Amino acid sequence: MSGKKVLLIGNGAREHIMAEALKKSRHHVELYVVGGAMNPGIKALAEEYLVADVCDKDAIAEFASRVRPDFAVVGPEAPIEAGIVDMLLELEIHSASPLQTVGRLESSKSYTRDLLEKFQIPGNPDFKVFYNEEGLEDFFLELGDDYVVKADGLKGGKGVKVSGDHLNGMEEGLAYARECLKDSGRVVVEEKLIGQEFSLMSFCDGTYAVDMPVVQDHKRAYEGDEGPNTGGMGTYSDANHLLPFLTLHEVNEASDMNKKVLKALFEDTGVYYKGVMYGGFIATAKGVRLIEYNARLGDPEAMNVLSLLRSDFVDICEGIINKTLDQVTVEFEKKATVCKYVVPEGYPDKPVKGEKIEVGEIPEGVHAYYASVDQRDDGLYLSGSRAIAFVGVADTIEEAERLAQSAVGSVKGPVFHRKDIGTKELIDKKVEMMKGLR
Ligand code: AMP
Ligand code: GLY
Repeated sequence: MSGKKVLLIGNGAREHIMAEALKKSRHHVELYVVGGAMNPGIKALAEEYLVADVCDKDAIAEFASRVRPDFAVVGPEAPIEAGIVDMLLELEIHSASPLQTVGRLESSKSYTRDLLEKFQIPGNPDFKVFYNEEGLEDFFLELGDDYVVKADGLKGGKGVKVSGDHLNGMEEGLAYARECLKDSGRVVVEEKLIGQEFSLMSFCDGTYAVDMPVVQDHKRAYEGDEGPNTGGMGTYSDANHLLPFLTLHEVNEASDMNKKVLKALFEDTGVYYKGVMYGGFIATAKGVRLIEYNARLGDPEAMNVLSLLRSDFVDICEGIINKTLDQVTVEFEKKATVCKYVVPEGYPDKPVKGEKIEVGEIPEGVHAYYASVDQRDDGLYLSGSRAIAFVGVADTIEEAERLAQSAVGSVKGPVFHRKDIGTKELIDKKVEMMKGLR
């Protein structure tokens, strides 16, 4: 039987599990990869692997023209913003990832806030987009001490500053907002929301959306949700596809928002949003609110949902591309998952780099996905960001946590991880917090 050629762009743990999901397909996938570094896990699955900047249009165009894949799929946000999906389309290669115009959902925070407002989709906090200083001070006075200032554009999570966490008092907020205005001519200032965050990702074919199980990420570097923000230290999901602190009603509110935004995007731009729509939500005392949208699978969230995916990932990608997703069965196992990242000491601010790590035997039932590591002839080296993700899948979160935790110790070297992710103790705190708010 003839196979399918798939072009995958990206080289993190998210792309490692995407590669695995593609290779599991009944369509006999031949995988062609463009990644910024050599990921040993992806390399083992790939026919050909080009190490190049994932935003380098010329290099990718040359590779794709030679390979002529049946379709492409993009892992990270940067190539989407850089127009790689658009460039591939010009070569008549379709992607299960959004075009630049609608990818703005992630790359421009002001666009997304304005879109929800324009189409009267509930879920925005109190917010204003400023293009100059007019009214800026007044809005800070209105918000008082609880504000968030967001630089516009992709900043890898570092452009957002929250009062009480990164900034104190109105003066510091104003100063940062002025800095953002100077940098990009735009800044979003909004109400600080209090509650528990969760991620709801949907596969979208432009008009039809199918939800994945909800997941909770842990952005803070240290135990007890303290310390600097990171790309995400670990995640969990529950066997019933809800989360212990969330109600079905709240998940439905988030799901509704994704569906309305999908429709609004087409009405606003005339371009169908095809790919994964990732809503970052927060359950508050007043209902579910939108923190931000991403135009791709989350990392680590991809490890939770794709570990559970029972359906054929190639069928899903083709359903997205052909606008036939409503005819594709999309099913997830009713199991719990916990993913923990092992990261370099000093991560995220001053990570050690170029240090060797040893990966011992990984316990049965746990899957390992490589992220920011460099495979050299004499072994594996840290390259400065999240290194390896370990995923446990089981009937309960507690059991999945035990599995993931049993595996993190297999990595020897200057690394750390968060022991508390997925533990009953931390989850109980989140449940109590939501009880208090409700
Ligand atoms: P973002 O890059 O928009 O996901 O923001 C990064 C982090 O900042 C989020 O995960 C939240 O923890 C926090 N954050 C963003 N917007 C708000 C908000 N309006 N209220 C409270 N926290 C927020
Ligand atoms: N888990 C956060 C992100 O993928 O943006």
